[in-house]
Amino acid sequence: MKIKTAEFIMSNSNVTKAPKDRIPEYAFIGRSNVGKSSLINMLMERKNLAKTSGKPGKTQLINHFKVNNEWFLVDLPGYGYAKVSKKKRVIFQYFIENYFKEREQLVCTFVLIDSRHDPQKIDLDFLRFLGENRIPFCIIFTKADKLPSSKLNKQITSYKRKLLEHWESLPANFITSATSKLGREEVLNFIDEVNKDVAKDFS
Ligand code: GTP
Ligand code: MG
Repeated sequence: MKIKTAEFIMSNSNVTKAPKDRIPEYAFIGRSNVGKSSLINMLMERKNLAKTSGKPGKTQLINHFKVNNEWFLVDLPGYGYAKVSKKKRVIFQYFIENYFKEREQLVCTFVLIDSRHDPQKIDLDFLRFLGENRIPFCIIFTKADKLPSSKLNKQITSYKRKLLEHWESLPANFITSATSKLGREEVLNFIDEVNKDVAKDFS
């Protein structure tokens, strides 16, 4: 897919105030600092479309971007950042849960996992939440450039094995790097295919 336009539309903490356009939507979520905003910039070939930071907790709201005037891409705050106060964590959980439960346009959620890390409870719990709410998802292994390829393959194989302890089959999954652009074509082609599949539901 060619990216012709990518524009920031709005940020908010309340899904009922999100854009009303009936177009397919794709959300990016995962632990704080996993690389959600960087991946969005890499996919869109834009340096600062989504705000990134070396410090976790940068993205705090639901951020809508419109791509090619045809679909939404959503940058979400990360979960699992220990330094966030308990009160903030509760608010976050509330608006993120609402987003996933209420957003009718959402056709696929990309759950990002740092390819260097072994499976973490918080990610497995989040995948279970999506499953229980019948929210379709894919997995994106990020920061692939940080591992030598033999170690990368080993990590991902063992991650998939862990998933199969909980799930009957694996979702679509991608390996990406925001620095080398690895996986860009694959993720965009996947979105292109889903857009075609769901077109009749949005016409
Ligand atoms: P929050 O908004 O805080 O939840 O974080 P995020 O998941 O949006 O992460 P962000 O994109 O802000 O990136 C966090 C840090 O990881 C930044 O320092 C990025 O430069 C770095 N980073 C992200 N993706 C990659 C990648 O693919 N490779 C490398 N080497 N660094 C990356
Ligand atoms: Mg972010």
